[in-house]
Amino acid sequence: MSNRTFTMIKPDATSKGHSGAILDQIIKGGFSIKAMKWTRLTKEQAGEFYEVHKERPFYGELVDFMSSGPIVAAILEKDNAVADFRKLIGATNPAQAEEGTIRKRFAASVGENAVHGSDSDENAAIEGDFFFSKLERF
Ligand code: CMP
Repeated sequence: MSNRTFTMIKPDATSKGHSGAILDQIIKGGFSIKAMKWTRLTKEQAGEFYEVHKERPFYGELVDFMSSGPIVAAILEKDNAVADFRKLIGATNPAQAEEGTIRKRFAASVGENAVHGSDSDENAAIEGDFFFSKLERF
């Protein structure tokens, strides 16, 4: 079990001014920030990041949305980070997310769901490496 996960605050949430409130909930949830940047993905980069979903019907929509505006990318640390972070953000579809979770509070739909959280230790490492060099993580 690794103690790190990777997150992005997605363009819907950054454009509505929710970045600060989401980071506050993440920190109060016991996660510490090991790397963080405000950036914007090109279509090509979003397509590469979400390559595992290439065959899914929503892939084109997902790539367009994730490259539509700025995001916050971060590596987070906590015991049991991947599972605990997924609990904090709630179900992928905000309509099914528990009360008080980040997606319940800030997301509008399954496509525009405010935050990403890695689904495994292996993907957390791959996704963190996608955004951050060794010099950018602490
Ligand atoms: P995320 O955790 O970033 O990982 C894959 C993303 O695909 C997911 O969040 C959703 O935003 C998106 N997604 C999953 N299912 C659908 C769907 N049915 N329609 C549109 N987007 C989806």
